Parts: sequence; C-alpha cells; structure tokens
Amino acid sequence: MLERRLRELAETDVYPFHMPGHKRMGPQDFPNPYQIDITEIENFDNLHHSEGILKAEQDRAAAIYGAKQSFYLVNGSTCGILAAISAAVKRGGTILMGRNCHKSVYNACELRQLTPVYVYPVDTEYGLQGQVTVRDIEAQLAAHPQIGAVVITSPTYDGVVSDVASIAEVVHRHGIPLIVDEAHGAHFGLHPAFPENATMLGADAVIMSVHKTLPAFTQTALLHLCSDRIPAEETARFLGIYETSSPSYVLMAGIDRCMRMMEEERAAQRFDCYVQILREFRQKAGGLSHLKVLGAEDFSPQEAYAFDPGKLVIEASGSGRSGQELKELLLSRYSLQMEMASGNYVLAMTSVMDTMAGFERLLRALEELDEIEGATTAKQVLRPGDIYREQECCMRLSDAVECAREPVALADAPGRICACYVYLYPPGIPILVPGERVTEPTRDTICACMEMGLQVEGLSESGCIEVVKME
Ligand SMILES: Cc1ncc(COP(=O)(O)O)c(C=O)c1O
Repeated sequence: MLERRLRELAETDVYPFHMPGHKRMGPQDFPNPYQIDITEIENFDNLHHSEGILKAEQDRAAAIYGAKQSFYLVNGSTCGILAAISAAVKRGGTILMGRNCHKSVYNACELRQLTPVYVYPVDTEYGLQGQVTVRDIEAQLAAHPQIGAVVITSPTYDGVVSDVASIAEVVHRHGIPLIVDEAHGAHFGLHPAFPENATMLGADAVIMSVHKTLPAFTQTALLHLCSDRIPAEETARFLGIYETSSPSYVLMAGIDRCMRMMEEERAAQRFDCYVQILREFRQKAGGLSHLKVLGAEDFSPQEAYAFDPGKLVIEASGSGRSGQELKELLLSRYSLQMEMASGNYVLAMTSVMDTMAGFERLLRALEELDEIEGATTAKQVLRPGDIYREQECCMRLSDAVECAREPVALADAPGRICACYVYLYPPGIPILVPGERVTEPTRDTICACMEMGLQVEGLSESGCIEVVKME
C-alpha cells in the first residue's frame, strides 16, 4: 500500500537530497490537506478565470519575481512550458530550442506540429551540459529567419546558467520572444548568492517549478509573462487546455504559503543561513582528494555563464566509481538519497529547508568514501557532446510519431528513421527524437549508456526500438 510505504519512509532517517524543496519538512503549521481541499465554491475564485483571491495571490508572485503577470500552475512547469510555446508560435511554425530542453518542449512541438531547430549546449570538462551560447543562437536565427520563438533551459538540471540577458537581446533584435525554462531556478534572484532570475533579464516568459528548489508541494509551478510579446489571453487559453479543470486548492495554498515565506523578513535570514551552510560545506569538501564537488570555479566562461551553488554535483571518476555506484553507496551505507546519478557524477539538490545536520552527514559520508578507492578504475566518461549529437532529421516530429511503425533490434536500427524518443532519465533529454535517422555512433552511445547502468527510456524490454515502417 502506497500510504504505508510513504509513512515508513517518513519514519526512516533517509535524508532527501532531492526534490521537492520542502524536504518533507514544509511549514509545520500548514493545515491538514483534507480540511482545505475544496472546489470552486463561492468566494474562492477560479484559477482559470481568476478575479478574486487567486488573482491577488498570482499578482503577489508577479511582484516577487518582477513579472508583468504570473500564473499559478498545478500541473508542474510542464503545463506552463506547453502553454507558453503554444501561445508564442502559431501551429506549424518553427522554434529554436536547446537540444537539452526538457521533454515538455518536444511535446509542445509534437502537439503544435512545430519544426524544431536546435542549439547544442557546449561540452564541459567534467561531462555536464554547459550553456547554450549567444553566438550559436545568433547563427541559427540568421540561418532560419522563419523561427518564431526561442526556448532555452537555464539553469540546467545540474545548475548551469546561460547568459539570458545577452540571448534576450539577440532574440528581440529578430522581433521574436524568448521563453526560459527556469524549472530549476525558482530560488534565483531571491538572494545575491544565486544568479539573477530570468524574469529580470529580458526573457518574455519564464517557467519555474516552485516544488523543485523552494518549499512547495510537488507539481506546483509558476509561469511568468514579462512583456507583451506573448499574448496573455492566448497563454491563459492554452493553460485551460493543458491544465486540469479542477486545480487543487491544497497545491495552490502551498504556492501561496511558499511565496509568503519568500516575502517575509525571515526569508532573508533563512537564505543567509542556507548560503552560509552551502559555503562551509563547499569549503570543507574542497579537502577531498578523489571526489570533487563542482563549483562555479570549475567551469570556464565558455562552458557556463554562471552556476547555481545550490546544486551539489559530486564528480566521482577520480575515486574509481561511477556516478551510479556512488549514489547507491550513499543510500545503502549512509541513508542519503541523492537526486540523480549520471555516468561520472551524482547530483544532490539542496534548498533553503536543508539542515546543517543533513549537510554534515553528506560531508562525513564523502570524506569516508574519499578514503576508500572504488573497485573499478578508469571509468568511461560519456560527454554530453557524445550523447546528444546532431542528427539528420528526415521527417517532422509530429508526423513521425503518428506514422506506421515497427520494432527493430537496436543493433539493426542504424539507417532507419526513429519513431519514438530515446532518452536518459533523468534528465529526460532525448538522444533521439522521432523523425531522426538512427546512426551507428548514436546506437553505440545508447548501448554504452545501458552498459553503465544509466536508465535509458524508449526501448522495449527486449531492446527493440520503434522505427518508421518501410513501405
Ligand atoms: C529542465 C526541466 N524543465 C521542466 C521540467 C518539468 O517540470 P515539472 O516537473 O514541474 O513539470 C523538468 C522536470 O524535471 C526539468 O528538469
């Protein structure tokens, strides 16, 4: 029974270095969810046509982030991304997007029959996806004048930030809007130790998951409009399509509570304390010999414009372990649950709700593990540039997902046109997009990811891949 399992977890001492940002310790005086779970009764407004209390609360969120208008979201950033793209670009149009965008951006392309043009994040020395550059965006905009909007992810899942202000300037010079998927940056701009929020840097729409890095329930998010380049009425209309018609008042009250926490005077103290703990942790972790906690100083200006200090990326290859091995050890020996593992690193997500005791436990665990060499040495590091290669697009994404298809063994797939997504989860970024031709290097990369124990989604249990059926 799920409820029992969750209760059991709550009773263990497993520490959550993962989402949601309330760290299972949200405000202790929050009401019993059943007592406040209502529908749109009198005096409680209607999220899809807000005029009363929900309008006032959304305006409060807009004021906190400096947006023109904000929408509460209860279906995650996912529905905000779908709505913003749908409102920004006409059906059948073209968008320029980071290849490292979340699957919701690809889904928007599918639903609205958009043609995606890609910019690729730069590779970084430690195998993370770096920023998308102004130069690459400018080049693609010049080469494809039909592009109707640009979508980038900043920060990335790992915390890498792109130069949003300069990108916005270039995008606006072409007379089109910039949409920033800031799902991992709801805490940006709330303290000087974190990068500025895209809402203040010229982005036209910014979508942030409050549940990821702030104390709020899973599924809660915000969509901010910061200019008139994306029509607000169209955005609201599409939210009415993509978002439930029964928005949970429990979730909305959770966003409200979170926004108030961010606003109140104590927020500054909370953030000061969090930043101080992060600094101390990073300073002490600097003494590790084999493991390495990456910081802004580990990225060149070409690799990252900025880096979120709240993301603890623990590089493991120097210790003779894969990211997955380190993640498993941290859980089984130290009861520390990480957010995710990649080939050579582990990601711990932190928030203003983390405790000194949690950080100390992580530090002690890393110090101990640093002393013990892993069994496997010279782990292969898969670079994003190896995983997310430029592919030949043979068919529009929305056509490829709907045409006749057949399964083929992955080994035999090169040359065929992919009819499904193949991606690593996390972070959910496609290696292959429907309509792209499978190549031998891409097939080999997928095999390498599986051999490293990474979770490859999109293949059948027998290892087959769906491809467009040959006539
Ligand atoms: C970069 C990025 N964008 C968007 C999303 C979707 O956010 P949500 O889970 O709030 O729908 C995610 C989720 O992991 C993400 O990592």
